[in-house]
Amino acid sequence: MNQVIEVMKQHRSIRKFEEKPVEENLIRTILEAAQHASTSNFVQAYSVINVVDTSKRAQIAELAGPQPWIEQCPLFLVFCADLKRHDKACGMCGMEMVKGYTEQFIIATVDAALVAQNTMLAAESLGLGGVYIGGIRNDPEKVCHLLDIPDLVYPVFGMCLGYPAEDPQLKPRLPLDIVLKVDRYTDATEQVQLSSYDQVCCDYYNQRECANRDDNWTQQMSRLMCREMRPHMRAFLESKGFPMK
Ligand SMILES: Cc1cc2nc3c(=O)[nH]c(=O)nc-3n(C[C@H](O)[C@H](O)[C@H](O)COP(=O)(O)O)c2cc1C
Repeated sequence: MNQVIEVMKQHRSIRKFEEKPVEENLIRTILEAAQHASTSNFVQAYSVINVVDTSKRAQIAELAGPQPWIEQCPLFLVFCADLKRHDKACGMCGMEMVKGYTEQFIIATVDAALVAQNTMLAAESLGLGGVYIGGIRNDPEKVCHLLDIPDLVYPVFGMCLGYPAEDPQLKPRLPLDIVLKVDRYTDATEQVQLSSYDQVCCDYYNQRECANRDDNWTQQMSRLMCREMRPHMRAFLESKGFPMK
């Protein structure tokens, strides 16, 4: 294929890192490349916080799980959806921003996700590895407090990055034929396809060296989707200026 596709197909989350720091220049190179992600209406509605302070890292690691790799990784970034800049832009033009629309929330969240995935890919292309950290949404208010995140901005997820000190197996993805549909949404054969994907995942979980277990995809999803998921998020988002009109 080509090198980009090879790097993309080698992605696996990395949670153990060498002690080697990621140089400042490299961080800037990665993030400047990441910023070239497409962005809805050119809004660029995100901010990225590089959390260097060890005490803040330790507190985030604790509230996110605990997830010790947040403390141990050389680089920990928090990706925020950010509409504060747009409020400022409106003010600079003598206008008043109309706030609180669900669409604005979607735009800012998608923008943060696009720049984050570009960051992951740029980092991986340079020999680094990493893992997203949705666990920061366990206590988003505390994360906002620790990082001085103001209204109209919210932390979507974190990302640990660094030089890998582990080499985990690739996690098999859903077969393309399940997710790719032509002209219309169809799922008539999905149950059969999911059963064979379950077998692929079962083999993966049985064989992998780290944390090997008996599991498959539908079982994992049924555990995940049959419980409450961070029910505080709605009130939190409303309090930060995202009331979802
Ligand atoms: C938005 C998002 C949040 C995630 N949050 C966490 C997390 O808090 N902790 C963690 O260890 N992995 C986290 N992950 C990593 C996923 O578990 C991982 O990407 C998925 O299981 C697929 O495995 P792979 O990345 O190794 O292919 C997150 C991934 C995404 C995209």
